[in-house]
Amino acid sequence: MCGIVGYLGSNGAYEILIQGLKRLEYRGYDSAGVALVTPAGDLNVHKSQGKVANLEQVAAAGCIDGSLGIAHTRWATHGEPNDVNAHPHVSQSGDIALVHNGTIENYSVLKTALEEHGYSFKSETDTEVLVQLIDYIKSTSNCSLEEAVREALLQVEGAYAVAVVEKNDPDKLVVARKSSPLVIGVGENETFIASDATPIIGYTDQVIYLKDNEMAVIRRDQPLAITSIDSNIPSTIDIQKLKLSLAQLEKGGYDTFMLKEIFEQPNTLRDCLRGRISSDCSHVTLSGVELNKEKFLQAERITLVACGTSWHAALIGKRLIQDFCKIPVEVEYASEFRYGNPVLNEKDIVISISQSGETADTLAAIQLAKEKGAFVYGVCNVVGASIPRNTDSGTYIHVGPEIGVASTKAFTGQVTVLTLLALAVGQLRGMVDSETVKQVATALKAMPKIIKETLKCDPEVQNISRMFTYAHNFLYLGRGYNYPTALEGALKLKEISYIHAEGYPAAEMKHGPIALIDHEMPSVIIAPSDSLYDKIISNVQQVKSRGGAVVAIVSKGNTAMNDIADYCIEIPEVPECLTPLVASIPLQLLAYYIAVNKGKNVDQPRNLAKSVTVE
Ligand code: AGP
Repeated sequence: MCGIVGYLGSNGAYEILIQGLKRLEYRGYDSAGVALVTPAGDLNVHKSQGKVANLEQVAAAGCIDGSLGIAHTRWATHGEPNDVNAHPHVSQSGDIALVHNGTIENYSVLKTALEEHGYSFKSETDTEVLVQLIDYIKSTSNCSLEEAVREALLQVEGAYAVAVVEKNDPDKLVVARKSSPLVIGVGENETFIASDATPIIGYTDQVIYLKDNEMAVIRRDQPLAITSIDSNIPSTIDIQKLKLSLAQLEKGGYDTFMLKEIFEQPNTLRDCLRGRISSDCSHVTLSGVELNKEKFLQAERITLVACGTSWHAALIGKRLIQDFCKIPVEVEYASEFRYGNPVLNEKDIVISISQSGETADTLAAIQLAKEKGAFVYGVCNVVGASIPRNTDSGTYIHVGPEIGVASTKAFTGQVTVLTLLALAVGQLRGMVDSETVKQVATALKAMPKIIKETLKCDPEVQNISRMFTYAHNFLYLGRGYNYPTALEGALKLKEISYIHAEGYPAAEMKHGPIALIDHEMPSVIIAPSDSLYDKIISNVQQVKSRGGAVVAIVSKGNTAMNDIADYCIEIPEVPECLTPLVASIPLQLLAYYIAVNKGKNVDQPRNLAKSVTVE
């Protein structure tokens, strides 16, 4: 949540910051702002409610000079989205400007103390308290900006990534982080800072991922200094090479990132599978499993923790791991797990699943699992994010940057990695027969082609979407492997079209939700030709006999549903455990087109942010 970006170098900071904000806008778009320090030592701040485009209009009327600056795109936590609550926040003296991603939990205590010292506050944000505190410490102890920042952060409880500049010093940028991410880009005579690496791409491929509890002082023409916030001890500087390209951040001819990401799935799954299945499909290798064989052999239980779409992938992972490894598996919302006093020991494996690798609840869950002695494994997309850096081992899904707020290619990447993991661990523990491995691995290897074939349903789904643009409610039903697919389909629709949708196990419908069904309540039913197909047919009939319209996702060639459902969308036939991968494609497209028909901004739906770094 919230994106921060900063620049100190030999070029004009404004354009770089604005471009950086646009790349970070997926993290929040309630307001945007920029603070620039001119060579003469003036501080110019421009901010505006809404998107970065609004900020550009506001800034155009003012001074945008300076080669030092910080900027912010906000996802509101404390205080409504408006101009005043927008970052950067400036101290009462007018000397210090700060941008912040995170939450200051003890802001109210600090605010009262500062008010007693004569400070008054313009905004309702927790962040303004931090900039006033830095100002107070600096003015009363006559110390440097970095000393004041350090001292202030020691008084702060909560999570933060901050960037701070000072009016009279056009040559210094101070940044720090605790539980919120921060990346430093090291260029030729210029340094970039950002919440993730996307604003840095195209300028430099040399990056430093600031570690938790570290701060950095970036000075013009001087070496970078990184220290721990608590002890001021210098840290070793670990410069890494960034492997992202500009093309990965562009829409590539599609109207939206979401549509591009849906259509990218044949390629992203190819990248995700690369090098992980042997050429004869008899063996699956994941280095994270190979390197930790003992842990996987000794495991008595696996717990999957995640949020949102990643949690839906975890539910599918549970079925896969139980089927192929015969280990008891639990799935927990990370937010519930972290406060649920889980009973864990060193024979437990906790697998955290996250696209961004920065989700606050998931990070807290893995921290807790580690404290309790469990072996913690991460399934993540963003390389170098906090989750892969805080887990004992793991697997990247390698689907490339996902920019649309609604997760699509990350979901199929997560399910693919969980399938590989279940097969690899099942082989290791001798719990899956070689015929099953071969059958599933062969189909997985063909998945890029199969998904390409599935995507041919696009025009048909677009047509069907027109029948449902004005529906107010939807039911998504599935069984077995596809109950989580139903949950995911419903979430996609909710997120981007704002239509209420519920995912339900199809057979549970008769225990309550069936009361909702009438001609105004359409149902989407995931009914591939699997072991539960006959059962789900009767569920469809139950819906139809109560007047509900049915969109059925069926396996190619299965015509039995044609006479029952109102619309059938065919998907290629695959082994049962892989049906969620294929069935999720028409569900992504259906949600997409209904939202587009309604004129919604699918890439940046209201109230949402891509990376949920607050509780
Ligand atoms: C997905 O469409 C959502 N926007 C959201 O539920 C997301 O999956 C969730 O916030 C978890 O994010 P993560 O995978 O980055 O941890």
